[in-house]
Amino acid sequence: MTDSHGRTIRDLRISVTDRCNFRCVYCMEPDVRFAPRESLLSTSEIIRVARIAESLGVRKIRLTGGEPTLHSELAAIIAGIRAATGVEIAMITNASLLTRDALREWKAAGLARVTISIDSLRPDRFARLTRSTSSPADVLAGVERTIAEGLTPLKLNAVLIRGFNDDEAADLAELARLYSIEMRFIEYMPLDSGHTWDSSKWVSAAETRAAIEDRFPLIARDDDDPSSTARTFAFADGAPGRIGFIAPVSSPFCGACSRLRLTADGKVRPCLFSTTEWDLRAALRAGATDDHLADFLIDATWTKQPGHGIASHDFRQPARPMSAIGG
Ligand code: 5AD
Ligand code: SF4
Repeated sequence: MTDSHGRTIRDLRISVTDRCNFRCVYCMEPDVRFAPRESLLSTSEIIRVARIAESLGVRKIRLTGGEPTLHSELAAIIAGIRAATGVEIAMITNASLLTRDALREWKAAGLARVTISIDSLRPDRFARLTRSTSSPADVLAGVERTIAEGLTPLKLNAVLIRGFNDDEAADLAELARLYSIEMRFIEYMPLDSGHTWDSSKWVSAAETRAAIEDRFPLIARDDDDPSSTARTFAFADGAPGRIGFIAPVSSPFCGACSRLRLTADGKVRPCLFSTTEWDLRAALRAGATDDHLADFLIDATWTKQPGHGIASHDFRQPARPMSAIGG
């Protein structure tokens, strides 16, 4: 499945729910209205789309939200995708609901890897940022359980916002050393629900790297996969773990993009920043055949825009925030 700019789609992100138990300031308003249940794709609809996507060349499926662990049938979704396809299944989570039993159940169902978001290690800030009852200690306990249950390689994601948590780059980087994992810094993108993003708030990968190197000098690794969004670094002192930088704002990687997104309400979004969506749910519920659904995905992919154009003067932020798109 290729788009009109010659890119091949190998990675499908499926948002299984728009619900979340956090209300991160850069993502979700406190009084957010969630989509009604019947508008969300069912477990069997999600599995069917996954099977068709694999037949079109998708090799990796990442389950996102909202918070995917809030879905009552998450294990059935994972098991269904596993039974219907041979794709690698990963998940991104806020780690608030990662009990040992849940991790075991998902792993047995076929989940391979987990990525966890952690934006601050300071309890007061974490509370203000996430507007949740969870804490950095809860997230780190989830990190430890995830590693213990072998849902690895585990990656951690942080978004730095200027004036809020941008002084924590080195502290967060230290997590990579402590847990022998990859800690990734994602440049803050204009996808926040409050539309408060402005160019003074994002912190570049270069600036973040310099702040980390004040404490932990880094060495560039030269084995990054070209379609990967992250540039990765090792610690110069030989400590375990690595640091990744995802720089959609300062160095857009759209030319190598291999992703397609499916929202929880069944809309195909060829790009995070798409302003048009393709209503796959309507086709599913109108009794479309597998061939018809495959054609639908092929057509939607063909319209994938060349890039996000965040830096362009006529950039328009998409109406949906990240939580309703699925990172
Ligand atoms: N800019 C950059 N990253 C974001 N995420 C959520 N919103 C934004 C944004 N506006 C991140 C989350 C999570 C991943 C899915 O996307 O922190 O790690
Ligand atoms: Fe892909 Fe769109 Fe992200 Fe660019 S902005 S990398 S095209 S999803």
